[in-house]
Amino acid sequence: MPIILGIESSCDETSAAICIDGKIRSNIIANQTIHEKYGGVVPELASRAHQQNIIPAVEQAFREAKVHKNDVDAIAFTRGPGLLGSLLVGTSFAKAFALARNIPLIDVNHMQAHILAHFIEEPVPRFPFLCLTVSGGHTQLVLVKDYFDMELLGQTLDDAAGEAFDKTAKILGLPYPGGPLIDRYAQGGNPLAYRFPEPQIPGLNFSFSGLKTAILYFMQQKEQEQPGFVQANIHDICASVQARIVSVLLNKLRRAAEASGVRDVAIAGGVSANSGLRQSLLALGERQGWRVFIPRFEYCTDNAAMIAIAGHYKYEADDFVGQEVAPLARWAV
Ligand code: KG4
Ligand code: ZN
Repeated sequence: MPIILGIESSCDETSAAICIDGKIRSNIIANQTIHEKYGGVVPELASRAHQQNIIPAVEQAFREAKVHKNDVDAIAFTRGPGLLGSLLVGTSFAKAFALARNIPLIDVNHMQAHILAHFIEEPVPRFPFLCLTVSGGHTQLVLVKDYFDMELLGQTLDDAAGEAFDKTAKILGLPYPGGPLIDRYAQGGNPLAYRFPEPQIPGLNFSFSGLKTAILYFMQQKEQEQPGFVQANIHDICASVQARIVSVLLNKLRRAAEASGVRDVAIAGGVSANSGLRQSLLALGERQGWRVFIPRFEYCTDNAAMIAIAGHYKYEADDFVGQEVAPLARWAV
């Protein structure tokens, strides 16, 4: 019955979770609101906030799980990819905790952990399955052969899907992070109102920078012709942008499924919280005869539960690291 403490600090969420025998008992997430007024995450401010948030988050995770720190069998932490200063806070905490309690230290790849969030609750996908991981920093199509045996089939050549949402929101004058706001405005809008171009990228890679530019020109032209256009049509614009981002993602996912013959299909990462993506994936899965896996909202965006569950499987495999471990800003899946 291993008890694993998981720590996540790769971007702007400080999170701590307790996993007992593969079951999540607590998952505390401290959001950093300081970045809103800057329109994006400011790395230096993120590191400082992690430093302030980490101890209270860990203490609350212990309290909610009714676990004492003496009983922890191993500590798992996000080693990368992410902002180096942010990663350093979680890494240093984990190393100190492991040293003080003389327990094993487990390094976790954040992008693998987003995928392994599917093992937090039943029903779980069967290997091999396909996972589209869509977050603020990444857009990856991954063939998941085993817990830690993953093959990258395609990825974005420029902006991530979450960035496409956030940058569009910025163009529309919405606050950061704009993804959830686009989602909200899209509800009640007509997704067919405006047609934004679909990037023509061969294979299973993605590109979102052209879409962002097309949206910018569209807005500028419409505002010039008719001041106040964006505000008056915000629901239709958001619904149309969202529909395009979703169709780009799902077209590649469908191609990957056809090419690999895999029928268990999952999504992960912050953008998998998007209601348009969730609905369209369910509909597509039904047409294609897939088993579709979508994480619960709290396990889509950054959280330590996914780090703790990844830690659980590494613990079972005796896969530990030493005190010399250092965080990695970039780290392949
Ligand atoms: O996985 P995540 O929490 O952090 C990273 O590792 O990047 O993903 C954050 C991203 C942001 O770009 C945010 O705008 C986007 O996920 N996001 C959404 C929604 N909720 C979060 N995008 C569209 N619709 C949503 N409902
Ligand atoms: Zn993430």
